[in-house]
Amino acid sequence: MQRYLPYLLALATLGYLTLATSPAPEGHLTVADEQALLQQVFQSLGQPQRGDNVARPVDGASAELGEKIILEGLGINGKRQSKHFVCTSCHNVVKEDPNLLKADPEARLDYAIKNDLPFLAGTTLYGAVNRTSYYNGDYEKKYGDLVKPARKDLRAAIQLCATECAQGEPLSAAEMESVVGYLQQIGLKMGDLDLSDDEFTRVNDALAEGDKDQSVINLLKGKFLPYSPATFVLPPEDRKTGYPVKGDAAIGAELYDRSCLHCHENQRYSFYNLNHNPDSYEHLLKHFSRYTRYSTYQVSRYGTSPIPGKKAYMPHYTEERMSNRQIESLRDFLNEALSK
Ligand code: HEC
Ligand code: HEC
Repeated sequence: MQRYLPYLLALATLGYLTLATSPAPEGHLTVADEQALLQQVFQSLGQPQRGDNVARPVDGASAELGEKIILEGLGINGKRQSKHFVCTSCHNVVKEDPNLLKADPEARLDYAIKNDLPFLAGTTLYGAVNRTSYYNGDYEKKYGDLVKPARKDLRAAIQLCATECAQGEPLSAAEMESVVGYLQQIGLKMGDLDLSDDEFTRVNDALAEGDKDQSVINLLKGKFLPYSPATFVLPPEDRKTGYPVKGDAAIGAELYDRSCLHCHENQRYSFYNLNHNPDSYEHLLKHFSRYTRYSTYQVSRYGTSPIPGKKAYMPHYTEERMSNRQIESLRDFLNEALSK
């Protein structure tokens, strides 16, 4: 307890500052525990601050409002940001990968089952402030030049998503700083990093001595992926036989619940309705192997087309967000559920 006291004091000050002004993680840490925000540890170790992932003080902005925008889709004056979606239609706001060095959809679904999380096309917003590049890999193909400013700038990435992914209104300055402020609060914590005791001690020694030790910064940077990789994949060549991998119906059942029903159950974020009933299963299964707009191969790999501002659309899943095997598992689940 004693050794965490300065940290707790800093945190209390930070809490006060958060309420009073901006949610920027000010303050120099001399010791870090598991709950310490990595962003603040980096700053205390002398890592130069980026401008794009630190909230600026703007009238009316607060991390609290940021949370409301992200979880409930409600901006300033309770105005809806998007007619169709909230950020959490497509993004988690908690840790979703058991190993922060891997973007592995099968390990992620496993983790989602254990922690009762949805399984979504967008990368979790938890730790977004710690990533240094956004809309990676093939997203350039989808959004073209729009991606360029968003690649290296968190605010631009948020704005692109608010208008293009969520098909909503651009965020005002106060709303933007609120979102950045909330994202800072859900940044990676020291306890997420899988540090050995020795490594933890090294970090705390450097903090205590006020060292500007690049090797400690590099040690921490080596513990998580600083970007979310994105590889677009195609539906199987032959939709009758599907992907040449063996599925698992039990996994498919989980995928159905944690992915498809997240948006389609009782038309939560969509028109197309899916439930736990044979009609839903039958409709999906019948179209699985067809070249129709209802084919799961089609919608999971290409998504559906957005009509800007007008209509909800379904985002596609990249290789890193849903594996071919998981899609076959969904098909197996539907087959099995209907053969009972
Ligand atoms: C309809 C789905 C959808 C909605 C709604 C949505 N997003 Fe996204 N978002 C995506 C997808 C897909 C990506 C692509 C990159 C990724 O996350 O892997 C993305 C990317 C991002 C990124 C960059 C992540 C990275 O590491 O590349 C941020 C930040 C972001 N969204 C913030 C938001 C915020 C804030 C909202 C709400 C205002 C929002 N998104 C709403 C689907 C969505
Ligand atoms: C982010 C929310 C979201 C998730 C997750 C999602 N969908 Fe969708 N889906 C939509 C939206 C929005 C549409 C566009 C048409 C609409 O509003 O119904 C759509 C369209 C579809 C369509 C075509 C419907 C039509 O009328 O053309 C099918 C089929 C479909 N989804 C199946 C699935 C399956 C299977 C899964 C799980 C693997 C899934 N969806 C996951 C939101 C989602």
